[in-house]
Amino acid sequence: MLKPSAAAAEGCLPAHVAIIMDGNGRWAQRRGLPRLAGHRKGAEMVREIVEAASDIGVSYLTLYAFSTENWRRAAEEVRGLMNLFRMYIRREGADLNRRNVQVRFIGDRGALDRDLAALMDSLEAQTAGNTGLKLCVALNYGGRVEIIAAARRLAEDAAAGRIDPAEICEERFSGALWTHGLPDPDLVIRTSGEMRVSNFLTWQSAYSEFAFVDECWPDFTPEVFARTLGAFGERERRFGAVPG
Ligand code: FPP
Repeated sequence: MLKPSAAAAEGCLPAHVAIIMDGNGRWAQRRGLPRLAGHRKGAEMVREIVEAASDIGVSYLTLYAFSTENWRRAAEEVRGLMNLFRMYIRREGADLNRRNVQVRFIGDRGALDRDLAALMDSLEAQTAGNTGLKLCVALNYGGRVEIIAAARRLAEDAAAGRIDPAEICEERFSGALWTHGLPDPDLVIRTSGEMRVSNFLTWQSAYSEFAFVDECWPDFTPEVFARTLGAFGERERRFGAVPG
């Protein structure tokens, strides 16, 4: 079990960490392996990082597992990823529950195979009462699509007279997003050295700190995770204010 980092001890541990798990394909290709081998290793790392986040005392962990753009990949890779998600839920579901982790999925579930959507529904229901780490998995997620869906929902409510358009404020808008009820991420981490946001938590990351780390996701060990959280603890967050 990982010890809480110095940052945690000093009370500067981020409450909500969000991760863009990038670099599975390159990790595999560098080893002469098929891309799917990288995703499989990546799924193992998901287990380790969820465990580490829970042990360290992170309250919310959001993982970018599949974007609305990822459908453009080769059919075989998409199929492989969907099977990995199925396998992860089947194999890890009971353990997540035992660890008191509350699991939630964000994204457009309607476009996924019915059996996978059913597994997701069931894991959410099974873990809904848990009080430990809140794990949020973004699957078929896109920040812009999420914003459009929220705008449409609010517009429908306004057109039907259920809300007054003048009452639409940041809080109300946040409440119409898939992430409703989750605090905005304090820290967004992207692995593999790429420095892009890639349509992840577009609204929610307005004031987040970002950490871009060189390790590909399969090499993002709990030690690298703890180091990244430690570096976050050193930063001063101002939220637009002048330093005091
Ligand atoms: C990006 O790496 C990674 C993905 C698109 C998939 C993320 C999926 C996992 C980590 C596996 C399982 C996840 C769960 C939640 C069980 P990439 O393939 O784009 O890497 P590249 O940029 O090197 O090609």
